[in-house]
Amino acid sequence: MSFTVAIDGPAAAGKGTISRALAAAFGFAHLDTGLLYRAVGAKGGDPVQAALSLTPQDLARDDLRSLAAGQAASRVAVIPEVRAALTAFQRRFATQEPGAVLDGRDIGTVICPDARVKLYVTASPAVRAHRRWLEVGGDAAQVLAEVIERDQRDMTRAEAPLRPAADAVVIDTSDLTIDQAIALATQVIRQRL
Ligand code: CDP
Repeated sequence: MSFTVAIDGPAAAGKGTISRALAAAFGFAHLDTGLLYRAVGAKGGDPVQAALSLTPQDLARDDLRSLAAGQAASRVAVIPEVRAALTAFQRRFATQEPGAVLDGRDIGTVICPDARVKLYVTASPAVRAHRRWLEVGGDAAQVLAEVIERDQRDMTRAEAPLRPAADAVVIDTSDLTIDQAIALATQVIRQRL
C-alpha cells in the first residue's frame, strides 16, 4: 500500500521546503497543490472551466509564485466546483507507490483523510511574512497584509477551510531553522513507516 504524507498550513509556513525535502529523503512523489489553485486563478476566465481544463503548461507559468497569483488562488479556492474539479487528480496522485507527499490547506482534512502521516506546519504571521518578503521582495508591510488577508480567507471559507486535522502533528517553525523543521518531520514519518 502506498504511504501518503499530508502537509497543511498557512501561507509561507515552510510547507513547500519541508515537503520537497521529505519526498527526496523517502523517495516519494511530491505535489504542491497550491500550484493547482494558483494556475486556476492565473488562467482567468471562468474559474470552474479553468480548473476542469488545467494543462501541464498552465502549471509551468513563471508568474505563479507572485503575491497577486497567491491572492487570485485564494479567491478561486473558495468556489466548491473549483475544489471538486481538482479533487480526483490529487487523490490519484496520493495513491502512487511507494508514497506521496501532498502539501496544501485541506489535504489531511478533505483530500486524504486517511493519510498515514498528517503534519500541520505553521509559524507566526510576522515570521511567515518575512519569509515571503525574502522570496518576492517589495513592500514588507504590504506582504504582511496580504499574508494575513489570505490566511483569513482560507480559514473562514465554508468549503474545506484551513484547519489542522484532529490527528495532525503540529510543527511551529517560528523558532526553527529549516533543517530542524525537516528533522522533526522526518522523525514523525520514520515512527510510522
Ligand atoms: O505557498 P503558499 O503557502 O503561500 O500558498 P499556496 O500553497 O501556493 O496556496 C495558494 C492558495 O491556494 C492558498 O492561499 C489557498 O487559498 C489555496 N489552496 C487551497 O485552497 N487548497 C489547497 N490544497 C492548496 C492551496
